[in-house]
Amino acid sequence: VILILDFGGQYTQLIARRIREANVFCEIVPYNIKPEEIIKKQPKGLVLSGGPASVYAENAPICDEGIFKLNYPILGICYGAQLMTMMQGGKVAEAPVREYGKTDVVINNNIPLFKGIEKETSCWMSHTDQIELPPKNFKVVASTANCPIAAIANVEGRQYAVQFHPEVIHTPRGTEIIRNFLFEICDCSADWTMDSLIEQTVKEIRQKVGKDNVVCALSGGVDSSVAAVLVNRAIHDQLVCIFVDNGLLRKNEGEKVVETFKNNFDMEIIKVDAKDRFLEKLKGVKDPEQKRKIIGNEFIEVFKEEAKKIGDVKYLVQGTLYPDVIESGSPVASTIKSHHNVGGLPENVGFELIEPLRMLFKDEVRQVGRELGMPDEILNRQPFPGPGLAVRILGEVTEEKLNILREADSIVLREMKKNGWYNNVWQSFAVLPDIKSVGIMGDDRTYAYPIILRIVESNDGMTADWVKIPYDILEDISTSIINEVYGVNRVLYDITSKPPATIEWE
Ligand code: XMP
Repeated sequence: VILILDFGGQYTQLIARRIREANVFCEIVPYNIKPEEIIKKQPKGLVLSGGPASVYAENAPICDEGIFKLNYPILGICYGAQLMTMMQGGKVAEAPVREYGKTDVVINNNIPLFKGIEKETSCWMSHTDQIELPPKNFKVVASTANCPIAAIANVEGRQYAVQFHPEVIHTPRGTEIIRNFLFEICDCSADWTMDSLIEQTVKEIRQKVGKDNVVCALSGGVDSSVAAVLVNRAIHDQLVCIFVDNGLLRKNEGEKVVETFKNNFDMEIIKVDAKDRFLEKLKGVKDPEQKRKIIGNEFIEVFKEEAKKIGDVKYLVQGTLYPDVIESGSPVASTIKSHHNVGGLPENVGFELIEPLRMLFKDEVRQVGRELGMPDEILNRQPFPGPGLAVRILGEVTEEKLNILREADSIVLREMKKNGWYNNVWQSFAVLPDIKSVGIMGDDRTYAYPIILRIVESNDGMTADWVKIPYDILEDISTSIINEVYGVNRVLYDITSKPPATIEWE
C-alpha cells in the first residue's frame, strides 16, 4: 500500500486514482497521522498531497516530524513538497511570480523519478509559494522559467519533492512520474486488480459474517446493486435483499430490478409493495422538506418491519463509497458535501454494517460490477434520488400526477438512449410542476400541465451544468411527450446550472 497524507488539496483524490490505475493499492490518510500508525500499515511509500495553505500560515496543517525518519520513500507534491522542504531545514517563500497552468519545465532525467522522460517537457503549476532553498542532501532536479526550483531530490534517501502536479492530465508525463515513484523508487508490484480485490473481499465477508444472516436494502442504483451482488457471491445462502416499492419509482422499475437480480444472480429478494402506505402519508403534503422527511422515515419503518420478519439478522449491507469515507475522516474540510441520504438507512438501525465498497471510487465500483458479470444497464445507470418521483412532482403527490410524470420520464429516457446521449450526461429526467396552461390540440382548447426537461452534466452531483443538447433531440423529446402523454400540452427546458439551482427541483 501507498499512503497519501491529505493536506486538503483539491487533487488528493486524483493522486489516489493515478496510483490505483497503476494497479497499486493506496489509502488517503489524515495529514496528522502518527508515525506508529503509518508503520502498522506497512506502506511501500508515502505521498504528501497538495493543499491550499502556506506552510508558514498560522493554522497550516503540519505532519508529524517523525515520518521523515521512517525511511520510507516519500513524494511531496506542491504543498507537500514545500512542507518537506521547510521541515527538513530548507526554505520556502512567496514566489515573485505566481505560476498557474501549463508550464514548460526542464528536468534532470538521470534520477529515478524522471527516468525515461524527455529533458524538456511541460507540467501543471498552481502555486503562490515555492521552494527557495532545498534542505541538506537534496539537489535541484527541475526548473521552469519562473520557478528555478521546480523539483528537488535526495536520491539516496528516496525523498522527492515536486512543485508541479504530476497527478493531473495537464502534466503530460505525470502518469510516468507517478509510475516511476511506485515501481522505480518504492518497489511496488502491480498486483492490485479487480479480480484480486473481489477474491479478497469475498474472503473477508465470509470471515466476518460466519453463519449469521445479512440483509441488504436494494434500490437498483449502482452502489447498492454492486454491493449486494458482491456479498451474494460471498454468502449466497445467508443474504436476503429487501426492495421497497414506494410507489415513487419510474415506469416498470420495480419489476425490472427484481427480475434482473433474481434471474442473473439467483438472489433472494423480497419485494415489498408499500405504495399505498407512502401515498397515504404524502396526501395533502406540499412542502418539499416535509415530503422528504416522510419518505425517509416511512422507508426506515418498512425496512425494519421486513427485516424483523426474516428474524435473526445481524448484518446490513451498505453501498458506502470511498469519497464518503475520506470525507468523514478528514480533518481538513477540502470539499463541502451535503448529501441528503433520503431513501437510505441511517447507521443506527440496529445492525452491524458490511460495506464492501468502502475503499473504492465510483468507476472502480463499476469495474467490480463488470467483473462480477453485471449488465451495463445497471452499471451505467444515471443516479436516481431516494425520494424518487416525489421530488420531481412539485406540490402534492397524487396518483394522477405520478402517472403523467412516469410516462414523460420514460419517453425522456427512451429518446436519450435512442440518440446515444444517455451515457454522456449525469442525469436526464422530467419534472412536473404544479401549474397548468392553455394550449390547442386539433381544434380543441386544452388546459393541461407542462413538463420541464432537466438534463445536466456533472462529476459528482455537487455542481452541474445544463447540457447544450442538440435542438433536434429536444424537438424529438417534446413532440413525443405531447403526442404520447395525456394531460401535457407544453415542454420546457431548464437552462440553469447548479449553483444557483439544484439538480432536482425539490
Ligand atoms: P441536488 O438536487 O441536491 O442533487 O442538486 C444532487 C444529486 O443528488 C441526488 N439526490 C439524492 N440522492 N437521496 C439520494 O440518494 C436523495 O434524497 C437525493 N436528493 C437528490 C440528485 O438526483 C443528484 O444526482
